[in-house]
Amino acid sequence: ETTVLVAIDGPAGSGKSSVSRAAADRLGFGILDTGAAYRSLAWAAGETGADLDDEASMLAVMDRWSYQTTLLGDQRIGVLLNDGAEYKTYDITAAIRTPEVSGQVSRVSKHASVRVRLNEMFRQIVAESGLPGVVIEGRDITTVVAPDAPVRILMTASPEVRATRRAGELPGMSHEQVLADINARDMKDAKVVDFLNPAPGVTLIDTSDMNFEQSIQAVIDTVDAAR
Ligand code: C5P
Repeated sequence: ETTVLVAIDGPAGSGKSSVSRAAADRLGFGILDTGAAYRSLAWAAGETGADLDDEASMLAVMDRWSYQTTLLGDQRIGVLLNDGAEYKTYDITAAIRTPEVSGQVSRVSKHASVRVRLNEMFRQIVAESGLPGVVIEGRDITTVVAPDAPVRILMTASPEVRATRRAGELPGMSHEQVLADINARDMKDAKVVDFLNPAPGVTLIDTSDMNFEQSIQAVIDTVDAAR
């Protein structure tokens, strides 16, 4: 039995992550947060002293790095890192959400060969999931990772709404600072992949005027329409 894929792209703060998670739960599907894998590499670069801007250096980190994620239930993110002699396990669920990692991750995701390797890993995780369906969310899922997915969605929201949502998750940072950080990251990321305009055949869901529940329902409706 094949796994049904629901591909969801969108910018930071669009609601993509939390909405994808809730929609996956209701559908009985797994959820693969691809941004977490990019974040884990930025974290691993810091841990090992690798140069984020150097592609070969990041590929070398990937050689000693093994990513661990759960697709169902409580989302824990872990990595195994080989220090030359043995693998050590780290739970980085919280560590990858810091403003420091958010500020560094675009420097990792700009490397084409890093993206190719991660995309292969994402496809393998889905193929081995054994689940009836998986929601994959990121920036280039509808266009590069799973362009043939039966359901493809681009989730957007106005910059102000996105900053307000993110500011709620980051107490201590001003709305202006969060907005500036989001815009700076989107500008860097958009140079690598286009996640601001829907590709042909991709359903656009603008959550600017939707609450959480309405956004989840919009995803479920899109999945139902494809069935
Ligand atoms: O989704 P999230 O904000 O956690 O993504 C973190 C970063 O990972 C993005 O800013 C982007 O640089 C990178 N990313 C990517 N392609 C994806 C998912 C994330 O380049 N499919």
